[in-house]
Amino acid sequence: MISKPRGTMDIMPEETPLWRFIENTVRETASKYGYEEIRTPTFESTELFARGVGDSTDVVQKEMYTFEDREHRSFTLRPEGTASVVRALIENGRCSDAMPLRLYYLISCFRYEKPQAGRSREFFQFGTEMFGSADPSADATVISLANEIIGSLGIKDAVLHINSIGCPECRPGYRKALVDYFTDYSGELCDSCRERLKTNPLRILDCKSPVCSEIAKKAPKMIDYLCGECKDHFESLTEYLSSMGIRYEIDPYIVRGLDYYTRTVFEFISGSIGAQSTVCGGGRYDGLMKELGGPDLPGIGFAMGLTRLILAMKASGAELPASAAPAVYFCTMGKEAVKYALSKVAVLREKGIYADCDIVGRSVKSQMKYADKIKARYAVVIGDNELQAGKAVLKDMIQGSSKEVELKELWKEFV
Ligand code: HAM
Repeated sequence: MISKPRGTMDIMPEETPLWRFIENTVRETASKYGYEEIRTPTFESTELFARGVGDSTDVVQKEMYTFEDREHRSFTLRPEGTASVVRALIENGRCSDAMPLRLYYLISCFRYEKPQAGRSREFFQFGTEMFGSADPSADATVISLANEIIGSLGIKDAVLHINSIGCPECRPGYRKALVDYFTDYSGELCDSCRERLKTNPLRILDCKSPVCSEIAKKAPKMIDYLCGECKDHFESLTEYLSSMGIRYEIDPYIVRGLDYYTRTVFEFISGSIGAQSTVCGGGRYDGLMKELGGPDLPGIGFAMGLTRLILAMKASGAELPASAAPAVYFCTMGKEAVKYALSKVAVLREKGIYADCDIVGRSVKSQMKYADKIKARYAVVIGDNELQAGKAVLKDMIQGSSKEVELKELWKEFV
């Protein structure tokens, strides 16, 4: 028996209607906001993520699926979508298109993490990216898109957390304050955080070790170190969110796990789906395009994990779509009846009706049982007598009642 790799999933047919419902909802909502779909490769040059996501992040240091191809080039299965979208825009010469440029994607991503509820090694993301506006009204619009999607999916308990992590102007001052603070505790920090103290002290705020997170609770807050422009940006964002009726909590310790962020960062957190509670994470990344060799174009976006959305929908008691069931199932006796049923089913399918008939050669009793099992709305039993009389018995499978109908009028019952 060969099993699937740890941390991957099989999505079985009874679950795919829910996945499709989510995919349709995110696509339709993103379209209303002017977003168009982009598709990029599943693997990219390793350097794209090392430079884009950041060398000192956990994603790059510990979680990437990196391999050499036969020509000894290093590639990586994408751990996220933003860096690829930025690369694609630069490579396809789209950075001078009409702005703002708005793109969305539905992709699988790969991270070598410890699997648990809401966290897998191959996972599915819906992501959006907007380029060409540094204005806080763009941040508010992007957040309102995420908020609308979460609401449309019937998720009730997701709380929006926002923060600003400043810009290259003000972050060095904050970095220094963090280093000063954490140096006093360097004996207590975990090995990774002692390293982070030198390479990327902001990452300590994200550490999951209980000791480090306890120390981090009293660390200086970026919000107190923002430069004038970053402060104005953040204040305008909060005003816009309030005017749009979007509730938020300012959470000074959100730093996000990827290095490209500047100014606004945000997460929607669901209180009822366990430790992996961030259903959506995103923020502004005004320096990424330039970092990857493109023009100095600001960007902002977010991504949602589809499995976490599903967990949150279920926890909220959202109405979940069911598998499609046939409108009618023909139970047949004899070859003439099979011929009739095959042709009738074809006509009904042409009219857009989900119809089916026995193609296994079962007894009528087993056919009725099967019709019940697949939740057919109606069953029609047809044998030689019925064909000769031009009539058949139509059984309502929900109410259990039956009635006689003219065969030539039968289709009207299902439209
Ligand atoms: P991220 O926070 O790394 O951001 O991931 C976004 C979302 O993907 C998370 O909030 C979570 O719902 C889901 N997710 C992440 N890792 C896993 C996992 N191992 N298993 C299941 N779900 C997971 C990004 O990826 C950024 N590219 C988002 C972004 C777009 N920022 C700006 N634009």
